[in-house]
Amino acid sequence: MDSVNTASAAEFPAVTSDTADAVRVLDVRHWTDRLFSFSVERPASFRFRSGEFVMIGLLNEAARPLVRAYSIASPFWDETLSFYSIKVENGPLTSRLQHISAGDYIIMRTKPVGTLVLDALLPGERLYLISTGTGVAPFASLLRDPELYDQFDDIILTHTCREVDELAFSADLVQRAKMDPLVGESAKKKLIYFPTTTREPSNRMGRVTNLIESGNLFDDLNLPAFQPETDRVMICGSMNMNKDMKDLCLSAGLSEGANSEPGHFVVEKAFVG
Ligand code: A2P
Repeated sequence: MDSVNTASAAEFPAVTSDTADAVRVLDVRHWTDRLFSFSVERPASFRFRSGEFVMIGLLNEAARPLVRAYSIASPFWDETLSFYSIKVENGPLTSRLQHISAGDYIIMRTKPVGTLVLDALLPGERLYLISTGTGVAPFASLLRDPELYDQFDDIILTHTCREVDELAFSADLVQRAKMDPLVGESAKKKLIYFPTTTREPSNRMGRVTNLIESGNLFDDLNLPAFQPETDRVMICGSMNMNKDMKDLCLSAGLSEGANSEPGHFVVEKAFVG
């Protein structure tokens, strides 16, 4: 088994610039053989917008940080920062990161970026948060941000995974949002959870893209198909899902947004590696 190259905060001379911190791991949870989440202490001066990502990593043998993009799965106001990760057997980072435990130090570059932010969307009525696998992480941030509920009447979180166990993170997230002292009351009224599996039987099966194309998703939710006047979409998952969802949005007449120019939908690739 790979050992984890963690160290105390004092042992990070190469990354003690103002854009990288050694952060202490507070908690690690293994959801399945392939999925885990962890939380770290928030650096005192670190600010971000709900939905953004940062670079997370470990020092390697050459004492250079090995980092990858990770969406922050906590809202902007939280005291701790959570992340949700896949375990890739031979992945340079995750094959090692999966062995961290509370008290270890990892690296976080404190420059948040990303397009899955409310600022990149035009005002609307309904917001669809479409995810596969670990792509649900940025939505864990947004779903605990009161601004989300102020801006939209209905929020639909879809999460597509191969197997039922892989939905545990999003099921837990939705439950926690509805119990949250800050957003709970709004989440109970406005948040709709739409989980699907593709390789194991469950209550709802199929790729979300197929369910949108066939109209089954809208029929199930008793909502109209995507329309530019009312609907906004955030997309985060595998490259193929992102592309298929983007095509579906474009063919419904929605335009892609960015921080510099808000639009009807935004896309970001989920981290794998
Ligand atoms: P499928 O089992 O049909 O490939 P992965 O674990 O490979 O990242 O996939 C996560 C989930 O995303 C799986 O349920 C997978 O379905 C689904 N998926 C993969 N590609 C697409 C796509 N182009 N559109 C929608 N869902 C997809």
